[in-house]
Amino acid sequence: MLKVAIIGVGTVGASVANILKDNKDIITARAGIEIVPTIGVVNDLSKKRDVTIELTNDIDKVLEDDSIDIIVELMGGIEKPYEIVQKALLKGKSVVTANKALLAYHRYDLEKLAGNIPFEYEAAVAGGIPIINALRDGLTANHIQSIRGIMNGTCNYMLTKMINEGVDYDTILKESQELGYAEADPTFDVGGFDAAHKLLILGSIAYGIDAKPEDILIEGIQDIDTPDIDFANEFNYTIKLLTIAKKIGSQIELRVHPVFISKDEMISKVDGVMNGISVIGDKVGETMYYGPGAGGDATASAVIANIVDIARRGKGSPMLGFESDNKENLTIMPKDEIETKYYLRLRIEDKVGVLAKIATILGENEISIEKMIQKPFNKTCAHLLLSTHTCIEKNIHKAISQLENSKVVTIKPVMIRIED
Ligand SMILES: NC(=O)c1ccc[n+]([C@@H]2O[C@H](COP(=O)([O-])OP(=O)(O)OC[C@H]3O[C@@H](n4cnc5c(N)ncnc54)[C@H](OP(=O)(O)O)[C@@H]3O)[C@@H](O)[C@H]2O)c1
Repeated sequence: MLKVAIIGVGTVGASVANILKDNKDIITARAGIEIVPTIGVVNDLSKKRDVTIELTNDIDKVLEDDSIDIIVELMGGIEKPYEIVQKALLKGKSVVTANKALLAYHRYDLEKLAGNIPFEYEAAVAGGIPIINALRDGLTANHIQSIRGIMNGTCNYMLTKMINEGVDYDTILKESQELGYAEADPTFDVGGFDAAHKLLILGSIAYGIDAKPEDILIEGIQDIDTPDIDFANEFNYTIKLLTIAKKIGSQIELRVHPVFISKDEMISKVDGVMNGISVIGDKVGETMYYGPGAGGDATASAVIANIVDIARRGKGSPMLGFESDNKENLTIMPKDEIETKYYLRLRIEDKVGVLAKIATILGENEISIEKMIQKPFNKTCAHLLLSTHTCIEKNIHKAISQLENSKVVTIKPVMIRIED
């Protein structure tokens, strides 16, 4: 018998406890040993919850209990779970977590501390999709050329509604909050930070890159508005919050931001709250993963897969995918050296000479226009919506600040990258 303590019996923790009970027969058969959720730790013991597992609010007592084999950390946060997980590992207990924020900051310290003690975290990236397993084990023969993911269901739900139904950002945010898809403070999701945490974990497994959130480009979907949707629809694009990891020579691009992407790409068809990830390996080619990125049962399914794996194999694959240093010596590409195509939304005064000025500023920064449309905004102003050919990130920022300084635009331009 393998005894499991669940630290945090909320949405995911309760599902883990219940699935271990409901699917006990198949789980025992697959693991070859009975897995028993022995105790759950919560903050508030008086809260009513739909579980039969015994509960406590004494974390230390659980960590000190030598009969507990596996600590399943499902409380959320960063520093408190870091402390708990360290204590568990120091006591020699295996750990399973779904906590991407913890791993975004502490995955390398924890890997070192864990050593030969099993530490698994499948649910931390894309909830129920077994992407860690796929990337770390299934694709291990490959140099990973790129990872492109839709890994935040809240943003994807909002953008799908905006594109398909023409709903504006504020309306869809409110609706998402009412449906429970977005938090009261939605910044973590709509600002791209949640997706960035997941990207950093995948970046480590694919490339051995130790990056922190502050090292990479992170932008959210807050500035997307109706004219951008019109432009997307007019030119067969959809808009997605994409997490991108790409190998360019000996550099790795790691970035999270909204993109215009052709509606014909497979990943563009990942709609609503679903997640999707495309991974290109140099030998296997493109592989695609699709499924629920959140939800109690879907996430618990991945957590339990890790528990069963520990029951079967003890320490299996190295935590972050490498048994020794990656000799490729890859580095993170500086944010302003990224090269891609861009979309710009400029609000301009609708008068003679403005277009010429804009073309001059773009030209001086080595930016050439690919497509352009103008739409009336009010009696005196118009929206100029344009896409560029491939250019360098620092040039687009320079051009945007020159456009603002020269007063040819009446408000700050909106820039969205185009993923080809
Ligand atoms: N929800 C998802 O769909 C999903 C998907 C993928 C990954 N995850 C990750 O899974 C983890 C858990 O998420 P969740 O949605 O299940 O969270 P949740 O519903 O908020 O549950 C958190 C649980 O932790 C307990 N807790 C928090 N702080 C505690 C403390 N200091 N001492 C004792 N107990 C404490 C809470 O106790 P009370 O119940 O008493 O408040 C609650 O039971 C997070 O790291 C999250 O990022 C979640």
